[in-house]
Amino acid sequence: MNYVEIIKEEMLNLTRKYMEEVDSYNFWEQHIKYVLKEASDLAIKYDADKEIVELGALLHDIALVSNYGTRKEHHTNGAILARELLTKHNYPSDKLERVVGCVMNHRSSKNATNNEELCVADADIIAHFDNLPMIFNYAFNRYNITCNDIHGWMKKYLAEDFNDLSDREKVSFKDRYENIMNVLFVD
Ligand SMILES: [Fe+2]
Ligand SMILES: [Fe+2]
Repeated sequence: MNYVEIIKEEMLNLTRKYMEEVDSYNFWEQHIKYVLKEASDLAIKYDADKEIVELGALLHDIALVSNYGTRKEHHTNGAILARELLTKHNYPSDKLERVVGCVMNHRSSKNATNNEELCVADADIIAHFDNLPMIFNYAFNRYNITCNDIHGWMKKYLAEDFNDLSDREKVSFKDRYENIMNVLFVD
C-alpha cells in the first residue's frame, strides 16, 4: 500500500474543497507541495524514515486546509485530524503515532523531538523560501502590510524563519539564505 499517494490524494481533495468553500488560496500549489519536496530531500540527507517524514509533510497543515479551528491551534487540531485520516486508511498504529508527532511538533524545530519531526519542521520553513511570492501575498493580503513597511516586515519575517531552523539545517541553508537576502535587500 502506498500511503504517501493515498494521503496526497486526500490532501488534494481537501485543497479543492477549501477553494470551493473558503477562498481561492491553493494550499497544495502554494505550500504543501514544496514542504513535501523539501521534507523528502531532508529525510534522505539526514537518514530519517522517508515515509513518516513525507506523510508528516503532507498532513502538517491539515487543520488549516480543512478550515478547522484557529491558526494558533492548527498543530493540535491537525494532530487530531491526521490521526482520524490515517486510522480511516488502516495505517499501522506504531507508525501512525510518529506521523502524528510530526504534525503536532511542526511549528518550530525547537519543538521537534526526533529526526523525522525535525525534517518536517525544517521543510516547512524552507518551503517559504521556495515560494517567496506567496510570502509577499501573505504580507499584503493577510497582514495588510503597506508598501512602505514591506521591506522591514519581509526582512524580519525571513530572518525569524531562518532562526527557527534546526542548528544542523542552519549550517546547510546559510548560503542560500544569504543569497536570497542579498537579492531582496540592498541594505
Ligand atoms: Fe503550520
Ligand atoms: Fe506549513
